[in-house]
Amino acid sequence: MSDKTEQLRQIRDEIIALTESPLYDYRTENGYFPVIGQGDHDAAIMFIGEAPGKNEAQTGRPFCGASGRVLDEMLAAVGLQREAVYITNIVKDRPPDNRDPQKAEIALYAPFLDRQINIIQPRVIATLGRFSMDFVLERFNAPQAGQKISALHGQAIAATADYGDVWIVPLFHPAVTLYNASQKQTLLDDFAALKRFAE
Ligand code: URA
Repeated sequence: MSDKTEQLRQIRDEIIALTESPLYDYRTENGYFPVIGQGDHDAAIMFIGEAPGKNEAQTGRPFCGASGRVLDEMLAAVGLQREAVYITNIVKDRPPDNRDPQKAEIALYAPFLDRQINIIQPRVIATLGRFSMDFVLERFNAPQAGQKISALHGQAIAATADYGDVWIVPLFHPAVTLYNASQKQTLLDDFAALKRFAE
C-alpha cells in the first residue's frame, strides 16, 4: 500500500473514533458514516466543500447527492474526470438538518483537512462555498482572507503550502445553482478558469 494511502487511512480511522465531535452521536444514532474524501491521492486539483449532506452521510462519499450532480456536470463540461481529482469537505460529519457548520466543528475537523492537503499536495485547491474559502484563505495567510466570495470567485490566488506553491481558486458552492439557475453560467466559467490553472 502506498504511503499516501496508509496516511489517509490513518486519518479515516481517527475520524471514525472521534467521539469528542459534537456530531459523533448524531452520526451513530442515524447509522451515518463520516465522509473523509474520495479521488486520486496524487490529484493536481483538490476540491474542498463544506460538510456532508444526508446522501453523503448515508454512503460515506462526498458530493453524491443533488450538489454532487452539479459538481459532476461542471467537471464534465470542462473535461475533468472525477476520478482524477480529490474531493473532500472541511467538516467530515453531517450537521443536523443541513445547517451551516459551526466554528467549533470547523476547528475540530480542520487539522484532518490540513493533513489531507499535505499528503495529497495538490497544485490547485478549489474551495466550494464560503466556509471552505474563508478557512483556506486564512490558513494560507492570503491577503484576500475576509473578502466576499462574490468578489473572489473564479480568481486564482497564489499561496505557499508546506510542500510548495499552490493556487487557491474560490468557487461558489454547486448548491447555489439549485436555487438560482442564473448562477450556473458563472460556475461554468469559473470551472473553465480552474482547469486552465491546473494544466
Ligand atoms: N455539500 C458539501 O459541501 N459537501 C458535500 O459533500 C455534499 C454537499
